[in-house]
Amino acid sequence: MRVRILGAGIVGLSVADELIRRGNEVTVVDPAPGSGASYAAAGMLSPAGEAWYGEEDLTRLCLSSLALWPDFAARLGVAVHTRGTLLVGVDAGDVQQVERQLSVLDLAGVSYERLLRRELVAREPGLGRVAGGAFLAEDHSVDPRAVVASLLERVGDRVGLDESAGRAAGAARRRRVETNTLTVIATGAQLPAPYSSLIRPVRGDVVRVRTQERVERTVRAWAHGEQIYVVPRIKSDEVVIGATTEERDGPLLPTVEGVWRLLDSARRVVPALDRASVVEVTSRDRPGTADNLPLVGPTHEPGVVLAAGAYRNGVLLAPLIAQLVADHIETGSVESAVDPRRFRTKEDG
Ligand code: GLY
Repeated sequence: MRVRILGAGIVGLSVADELIRRGNEVTVVDPAPGSGASYAAAGMLSPAGEAWYGEEDLTRLCLSSLALWPDFAARLGVAVHTRGTLLVGVDAGDVQQVERQLSVLDLAGVSYERLLRRELVAREPGLGRVAGGAFLAEDHSVDPRAVVASLLERVGDRVGLDESAGRAAGAARRRRVETNTLTVIATGAQLPAPYSSLIRPVRGDVVRVRTQERVERTVRAWAHGEQIYVVPRIKSDEVVIGATTEERDGPLLPTVEGVWRLLDSARRVVPALDRASVVEVTSRDRPGTADNLPLVGPTHEPGVVLAAGAYRNGVLLAPLIAQLVADHIETGSVESAVDPRRFRTKEDG
């Protein structure tokens, strides 16, 4: 099969890699590969940390994709940080939030270890004054920039940089009629017409710092009502602090308020970060959908497949989305929870 993929973020490139492995003829179009949400992402593989009420299908898919990560990472030659994740609350109200999250994990059958303050500090000596929390042993992380770099190397010169994804969509559709090429749209928070209305961009500001202090594992925290995470890299002294969650448009630039809230919360949770150097502040839009589930599979338009809407879990879900798209192209199978046809585009009426 000849497949043209629009979008060279972690999802589009993972789809490309899987389709190439299965013997398809693939091209990828993106004017700036790896520069969208994948560039900002902290890289948490965190089904438990992201689980919430009413999102049972999403948690199920995230757990399935987590199981694919060891092989996927080995194939790409990237390291997975497997020291688990601490989920902590700074004050009593924050601990209630943590308890709510643990109730969701009980419902999903996901195990965790509830920890007292001193037990939390034993796992992460740099923690500040936290009131309680839990250890999520199976929630890991990767460096998404390393993943994208490896995928780009594997997909190689099949990636074309010279057309905008929007224009490419029209061109790809025309080409499909001429040559029976299939189009996979993986353009993140900016889908081309008629699919743009299926995505709600959800802004996230992220801060990258460098620190001489050891941060052993990912810490996800509620800090006086703010939800943040602190994600250390294995092979460097970089720590990623994220992320705001803002349902707004506007220039793709971090705001003073967003960055202040992140840093204020992060230094409460890990006070040693006060000494860290700020090396980068990034703002990108997450590709949200109306039900927070991805859009993966066929559309109402013959020959056009979506690999989109991964919202807060693009890195985690990339190998599963790649598998679902490749299976669909091979056999016509569709995972009903993520079938894009559950929504109507504006053009469908
Ligand atoms: N996956 C975390 C975030 O979207 O902020």
